[in-house]
Amino acid sequence: MNVIEAISARHSYRGKFKDTPVPREDLVKIMEAGLSAPSGCNKQTTSLIAVDDKAILAKLHAVIDPPVGETAPCAICVLTQRINAYRDKCFAVQDYSAAIENMLLAITALGYRSCWYEGHITDDDKICDKMAEILNVPEGYELVCFLPVGKGVEEPAAPKKKAFAERAWFNGFGGK
Ligand SMILES: Cc1cc2nc3c(=O)[nH]c(=O)nc-3n(C[C@H](O)[C@H](O)[C@H](O)COP(=O)(O)O)c2cc1C
Repeated sequence: MNVIEAISARHSYRGKFKDTPVPREDLVKIMEAGLSAPSGCNKQTTSLIAVDDKAILAKLHAVIDPPVGETAPCAICVLTQRINAYRDKCFAVQDYSAAIENMLLAITALGYRSCWYEGHITDDDKICDKMAEILNVPEGYELVCFLPVGKGVEEPAAPKKKAFAERAWFNGFGGK
């Protein structure tokens, strides 16, 4: 699958996952894709923790309420360091967003499914902090996103996107 095909084949997957384990080799490829993403001033503020140990996954799932991705054989947790790239400019959100999208594309290209779970774990109940504690994340790092990874049982639904012409133009806003 080339990158353009992976971009169109990627959809958020919230269905059940097969038990089939994800080899470490594939997890490393996915994480390398994430770490290869651009970052503001190359500050590389994003770090990753893949979890494929069933006992640790169970601990994470015990704090993710309501549960999401609980049937996936593994998951990748995304960490950020909110440091400034220059002066008072912090690009940590852009940095980890680029890393996440790279990983979602790699996940798709390797035949797995995932979903970008950020809102769910960073809401007022701060599930992310409980997850960070379980994973011994040190001070200065924030856990911001949870990506379950595995083979999907079903096909993901492709959500409706606005028409190209509503959001993209040539040579000026609304131009043709
Ligand atoms: C910053 C961000 C946070 C997200 N958080 C969640 C989430 O907490 N739960 C969830 O089910 N999907 C979450 N998503 C996935 C979006 O709902 C999904 O990308 C969107 O509905 C479009 O669907 P698609 O990914 O299939 O194109 C998040 C996506 C982004 C970019």
